[in-house]
Amino acid sequence: MIGIEGGRPLRGTVRAAGAKNAALPAVMASLLTTEPVVLENVPHLLDVDAAVALAQAVGKEVTWQDSVILLRGGDELAPEAPAELVQRMRASFLALGPILARTGESRMPLPGGCAIGPRPVDLHLVGLRQLGATFDVRGGMVHAHAPRLRGTTVYLDYPSVGATEQLLLAGALAHGTTTVVNPAREPEVVDLGWLLSAMGAEVTWHEDRVTVWGQRTLGGATHRVIPDRIEAGTYLLAGAITRGEVTVEGARPDHLDALLAKLSEAGARVETNGDRITVGVEGRPEAVNVQTLPYPGFPTDLQPPLIAFLATARGRSTARETVFASRFNYVGALAQMGAQVQVSGDTVLTDGVETLHGAEVEATDIRAGAALILAALAADERTAIRGEMHIARGYADLPAKLRGLGAEVWATG
Ligand code: UD1
Repeated sequence: MIGIEGGRPLRGTVRAAGAKNAALPAVMASLLTTEPVVLENVPHLLDVDAAVALAQAVGKEVTWQDSVILLRGGDELAPEAPAELVQRMRASFLALGPILARTGESRMPLPGGCAIGPRPVDLHLVGLRQLGATFDVRGGMVHAHAPRLRGTTVYLDYPSVGATEQLLLAGALAHGTTTVVNPAREPEVVDLGWLLSAMGAEVTWHEDRVTVWGQRTLGGATHRVIPDRIEAGTYLLAGAITRGEVTVEGARPDHLDALLAKLSEAGARVETNGDRITVGVEGRPEAVNVQTLPYPGFPTDLQPPLIAFLATARGRSTARETVFASRFNYVGALAQMGAQVQVSGDTVLTDGVETLHGAEVEATDIRAGAALILAALAADERTAIRGEMHIARGYADLPAKLRGLGAEVWATG
C-alpha cells in the first residue's frame, strides 16, 4: 500500500531514470549475440527484473551493478521462455524473434501485461511470417520455426511499437535487409536501432520506413539507455497538479514535446535548458483537449496522469484514447476521489473541480497507478493506494523521489 498525505506543493529537482520501454528490448537484443552487451542507465524495476530473468532462463549470464547490466554468454540458447515470465510482462514476447533468429525455433506463450484492453500480437506474427517464419499456435503457445530468416519489406497496418521492435530484432540476424514500412517511431524504438547498429546491424530511418541490415553474427556493444520520458512527464505533472514547480534533470525535452505543449496550453510555465525541464503552475490551470496517438503524438502512457492533472483544471477537458481500447480503468478511482470524470466511448470528459479528496483506491496498471498518485498528492486528505506492485513495474524509487520533492509519502506491506 502507498499512503499519501496530500495538499503540499512539490518543489525541487528529480533525476530521470533510464527508460523502462527502451531497457526491455535492449535486454532482448542481447539474445542476438554471444558477445558481451553492456547496458547503462537501466532502471531498477520489476519489469526489468522480469526481462533479465527471461534472458537468464534461456541461457545468458547477467550481472547487475547499480544501473549497469552486463549480459554475456548464451552460446546455446534454450528455445522456450518460461510461461510465467511472458505472461507477467508483455514485452517478454520480444524474445520470440531473437531466439528464432539464433536457433531456428522458438516457443513462446501468448503474452500478458497490463489490463488495458485487448493487446494482440498479430502484427508481430504477420511480419515474422514474411521473413520466412512458420507458426503453429496451440494451447496458448506460439511454436515458431525458420531455418534462416530472410530480409524483406514488411508493411505494418499500424505503427506498433512492439511489432516494429520484433522485426528489427529478427531482421538484425536475417539474410539481407529488412524494411518496415509504417514503423513505430517512439524514441524507445529508435534507441533499439542505435543498439543494433552498435552491434553491427545498421539501422537506418527514412520518412516512412526503417531498414535493418541483417548480419550472420552480431558483436557486443556498450549502450546507454535513453531517459524515461513517461517517468519524467509524470514528475512534471506531479509538480503541476500540486501547484508547485518541479525540475526533471537528465531528461530529453524533445521527447516530451506533446506533453509540454499541452501543459503550456493549460497555462503552466514550461522551461527547458539542456537536459533539464521545469514546469511550474500557479492557480488553477485551464482545461485542454487531447488525443493519444503514436509518437510524436501525445503518448497514451501519459493519458491517465494528464487526466488526473486536468481533474482540477478550470472547465471541461476531453481526452480521446486512440491507441489502446479501454485504458480508462482508473476513472472510477478518480471519481471516488471527487473528480468529475465520465467515459463516453473512446473519450473521457473531465469537468475540473476545485479540490480532490483522499480515499482508499486501487491501481490496476502502471499508468493508472501514476494517475492515482498524482490525484493523491493534490487531495486535501490522506489517500491509500493498493496495487503498488503495478506502480513498481514502471517507477523506480517512487516514494523516495516524491519525498525528495517535499511530498509526504510512505509505503507499507
Ligand atoms: C508499447 C509500450 C507501452 C505503450 C505502447 C504505445 C513497451 C514495453 N510498452 O507497448 O508502454 O503504451 O507501446 O506507445 O514498450 N496491436 C495490435 N497487434 C499487434 C500489436 C499491437 O493490434 O500485433 C495494437 C495494440 O492492441 C494497441 C496498439 O496496437 O491497441 C498499440 O500497441 P503497440 O504499439 O504494439 O504497444 P506495445 O508494444 O504493446
